Amino acid sequence: MSLLLLGSWTAAERERWLALLQNELPGEQFELAPPAESTDAAAAAAVEVAIVANPVHGSLRGLPNLRLIQSVWAGVDKLLADPDLPTGVPVARMVDPAMNEAMVQTALWAVLSLHRGFFRLAKQQALALWCQPAQPRASEWRVLVLGQGELGGRVARALAAQGYAVSGWRTQAGAAGGFDDTQVRGLCGEAALAAALAEADTVINLLPLTDATRGFFNTRRFAQMKRGAGLVNLARGAHVREGDLLLALEQGQLGHAVLDVFAQEPLDPAHAFWHHPRVTVLPHCAAQTDARSAAAVVLGNLRALREGRPLAHLVQVARGY
Ligand code: GLV
Repeated sequence: MSLLLLGSWTAAERERWLALLQNELPGEQFELAPPAESTDAAAAAAVEVAIVANPVHGSLRGLPNLRLIQSVWAGVDKLLADPDLPTGVPVARMVDPAMNEAMVQTALWAVLSLHRGFFRLAKQQALALWCQPAQPRASEWRVLVLGQGELGGRVARALAAQGYAVSGWRTQAGAAGGFDDTQVRGLCGEAALAAALAEADTVINLLPLTDATRGFFNTRRFAQMKRGAGLVNLARGAHVREGDLLLALEQGQLGHAVLDVFAQEPLDPAHAFWHHPRVTVLPHCAAQTDARSAAAVVLGNLRALREGRPLAHLVQVARGY
């Protein structure tokens, strides 16, 4: 049996994953490219687990004995969109403690920067402009976190711990995740969303990307938001209609956008976001998988598979996350 390691890694990242896994699984056979079923049927038949990072579509085809697809990315939208994804094989996503921590840090930085006007102050410094901003209290700053799974739930809780007035919205009532025992106001449903958008000073997007959430932020949604509010997109670029966002910024309906993710990545050097005075661009680095802790998560699932125990962080393929 072998483990297939596949993804949009740099050579160095792949080497790192290989070293971490080989160190823990010294007797194991690793494949670094999909064995072709036609020319190398024995190698294809030997693949038991695919450990993947946003792999190219079609690369998991023809692996008849595959028992687990383990993503090392938290978001599995691209993986699940693969028309050749083997059916009936469990798919697990990454829930990496270090990644959770990084996401909380990025969200805290973005909310603090918007709340205290730090993006504006940096621009003032460039103009040698001395102008003191207002200083609302954190408790007067309303933050709405969309998505209450692993990442959204943690972000909402961390912001509440800093004193912000936090609401957490999820698409489905009773869905797993969320942290209802905290200071976060839990919301669900379209009516609650409209009301929460209308009052939020900062909206953080941590929704999974599915057919239902693609293009979620569009002109209609921006019109529901409080005038001048900030949008922080830490999920996927396809959640946002970029043209609508630029228009909402031009019209002052949105005050500022912090964007970590884009419809096309890397972001085209000619894209209007780069030099927009009220857009902060991050190169999809809000929270990256940390191979050191993520490898332990992968190993945990490998052992569970072999020992017939329940697998962790399984994706509901039909639901899309
Ligand atoms: C990064 O965007 C991830 O989904 O892990």
